[in-house]
Amino acid sequence: MKKDWWKESIVYQIYPRSFHDSNGDGIGDIKGITEKLDYLKHLGVDVIWLSPVYESPNDDNGYDIADYYAIMDEFGTMDDWEELLEEIHLRGMKLIMDLVVNHSSDEHEWFREARKSKDNAYRDYYIWREGKNGKEPNNWKSSFSGSAWEFDEKTGEYYLHLFSKKQPDLNWENPKLREEIYKMMRWWLDKGIDGFRMDVINFISKVPGLPDGPEKAGERYASGGKLYRNGPRIHEFLQEMNREVLSKYDVMTVGEMPGVNVEEAKRYTDHRRQELQMVFTFEHMNLDSGENGKWDLKPLELSDLKENISKWQTGLHGTGWNSLYWNNHDQPRIVSRFGDDKDFRVESAKMLGTFLHMLQGTPYIYQGEEIGMTNVQFESIEDYQDIEIRNMYREKVVDGNADHHEVMEAIYVKGRDNARTPFQWNDQPAGGFTTGEPWMRLNPNYREINAEKAVDDPNSIYHYYRNLIQLRKKHTIIVYGDYQLILPDHDKIYSYLRTLEHEKLLVITNFSADHVSFDLPKNVEFEAEEILIGNYHVTETKNPVSFTLKPYEARVYKGK
Ligand code: NOJ
Repeated sequence: MKKDWWKESIVYQIYPRSFHDSNGDGIGDIKGITEKLDYLKHLGVDVIWLSPVYESPNDDNGYDIADYYAIMDEFGTMDDWEELLEEIHLRGMKLIMDLVVNHSSDEHEWFREARKSKDNAYRDYYIWREGKNGKEPNNWKSSFSGSAWEFDEKTGEYYLHLFSKKQPDLNWENPKLREEIYKMMRWWLDKGIDGFRMDVINFISKVPGLPDGPEKAGERYASGGKLYRNGPRIHEFLQEMNREVLSKYDVMTVGEMPGVNVEEAKRYTDHRRQELQMVFTFEHMNLDSGENGKWDLKPLELSDLKENISKWQTGLHGTGWNSLYWNNHDQPRIVSRFGDDKDFRVESAKMLGTFLHMLQGTPYIYQGEEIGMTNVQFESIEDYQDIEIRNMYREKVVDGNADHHEVMEAIYVKGRDNARTPFQWNDQPAGGFTTGEPWMRLNPNYREINAEKAVDDPNSIYHYYRNLIQLRKKHTIIVYGDYQLILPDHDKIYSYLRTLEHEKLLVITNFSADHVSFDLPKNVEFEAEEILIGNYHVTETKNPVSFTLKPYEARVYKGK
């Protein structure tokens, strides 16, 4: 397999608003990040992915960009950003920026112009249609509730917005728009950044004619989803972007792609096709959702996780490349989700980390994951800031007749704000995040769960993650070895084998709070040489043929 630096890297995602505030205004900022770079270096990460820091009215916390060439005032200045980049590079780390080009903000100059008149030079940068029988042009739904179309009085037409109405979709059919985007990408790359994470990049090509989608109530990217995800010209656009921009730099790319399956992902990441290096799939993040989508809660079945992860591990092996993640700014905290944040918080967070970091692919750590930050429960809907949560609550409870408690329950489990409470640095007021009034309430558990405590405690999740990272750097098999699922039918243990030439790695993880016995299947040849890592103290170094796993125990053996 071809070796590449981005296959061997570990990425850390920063959501700037919630990371660290340097000036006491209650909002995380760029200088705040620079102040914490040594913490990240010590953790051992190679690449930092920065969620958007561009000029934005913050309808969707920066994912609605008003100026691609400017830094949001609340976050600082371009000089602050230049300093951040320099300090990252000085420490031998890299920086990738968020590229949000499926849509812009409605406050972007292009859109301000576009809405002025039908013959404005920028009109065709966006997607405009006449209404149908006095209604929206089609039945597509916005991911943030309601129709995906907004009527614009001035010119009497509707514009498309797959997200909030302040996030109009850009029209990639227009070559002029595409050239503007490539120019902007080159501008950032010439400043020395090391790549892009591309927001919902598989949404940029829509089926021509924008036909109605099948009605299917509740689905997250409801009616129309199939008509704008992985659309007819998507590969052409990405190949063009690669040819015009990416191929000229040695950079890392990862495309966020809701609704991508293994077959499509192969096409996106096959290096011979010159598109992207990796994609973020959502399949494993949808396993605890019922058929009505995200808010339809359903417990995770371990068999589903096995089937799904195995499909991706074997499917992309040798052709494309996996990105490995449990968390990001859109997902609830993994320890609360697939672990146990009450009785076995530390054990289960370490187990989940082990499981993910021993797979083939590039691992992503989301801020706070490395100290085992948990989901939060605010009583009042007013304490939630996320537009997705607020719109959904309004649609279901205020305008509809859903039960307040039931909806809050779903928010506690799945809401994006679980990931967005301020980072917990220490046990001081506001958790050391700010000296002012935080823009969003902290999780009250910051007095027990915080970075200062974690760094001081050699048995913490933080130090365990450091070890996981070091192991990946030391053992090539963790990066490049192939993957084989063992014990496929066990309902509590997830175990897999990695192989690279004559070396083997046996990963054993208990996804339950029970004591369970592990028996190495007879047909699996494995002779242990050493135990690489484990979340309980293991004394015996015997071959792991048969033994009892403790709650959420994880062990990794190296052998042949
Ligand atoms: C995906 C981003 O991760 C999410 O936070 C955002 O709301 C949507 N794309 C729209 O940009």
